[in-house]
Amino acid sequence: MSDIPEQVHSLTEAVEGWLTREEGELLYRLARRCTGRGVIVEIGSYKGRSTIWLAKGAQAGAGVPVYAIDPHTGSEEHQAGTGEAVWTYDEFLTNLRRAGVEQIVLPVLAESQQAARTFDQPIELLFIDGDHRYEAVRADFNLWVPKLLDGGYLLMHDTIRWDGPRRVARESVYRSRCFRDIGFVHSITFGQKAASSTQADRLRARYVLLLHTVYDVLSAIKPPPLLKRAAKALFMRLQIR
Ligand SMILES: C[S@@+](CC[C@H](N)C(=O)[O-])C[C@H]1O[C@@H](n2cnc3c(N)ncnc32)[C@H](O)[C@@H]1O
Repeated sequence: MSDIPEQVHSLTEAVEGWLTREEGELLYRLARRCTGRGVIVEIGSYKGRSTIWLAKGAQAGAGVPVYAIDPHTGSEEHQAGTGEAVWTYDEFLTNLRRAGVEQIVLPVLAESQQAARTFDQPIELLFIDGDHRYEAVRADFNLWVPKLLDGGYLLMHDTIRWDGPRRVARESVYRSRCFRDIGFVHSITFGQKAASSTQADRLRARYVLLLHTVYDVLSAIKPPPLLKRAAKALFMRLQIR
């Protein structure tokens, strides 16, 4: 039996977004583990699919608040080359209310780089899924990871087949000495911030990076759904956590 109520799956599946069920479950479980030493920060909420996963996890745990940072004007890919803002805030709020998480989510209508200037709370879980251009992801990493507590988790979405997030994850998570327990669930790369890592942590990180690279190459192929599911499950098992 799953440790996650089926209602959370149906609520999140009803919200437009890209997060898979397994990615959502990872957000939920890590949010549920947060103790309140710090807060949860999400960069890039769109219509709230990942926000609801995080908030439901937090509600099932210590009730840690979720700061949801997004100007709600859409990213390049949502603007379909027009450069025109796509307003998502109203739908975001409606979805939060429907899920019953509006009390625990604190929306911040700003770009992440601007919000970072005044945000002074320690962070226990940081989820980066905003502007996917390399320079923007690099800025998010550099501005926000210093606010993440040792022992806290960083999660980055779209590190498979998206050049910006993938490069930052490879440069600064898989090859870093500041993260342990590194892994990936579909396109999310995650790691636990640590003051230092051991030789064993670093060896494992290199091994997981190799798996991530193979997974990235294979994800360009479109196998039949059954084979795809089996391959995904195999890659999760190969990470030996
Ligand atoms: C891929 S979507 C996020 C999807 C969301 N996490 C989900 O699971 O449905 C990217 C979001 O990032 C937001 N965004 C773009 N640039 C941003 C920035 N500089 N700071 C914060 N959010 C940004 C966009 O408005 C958009 O809603």
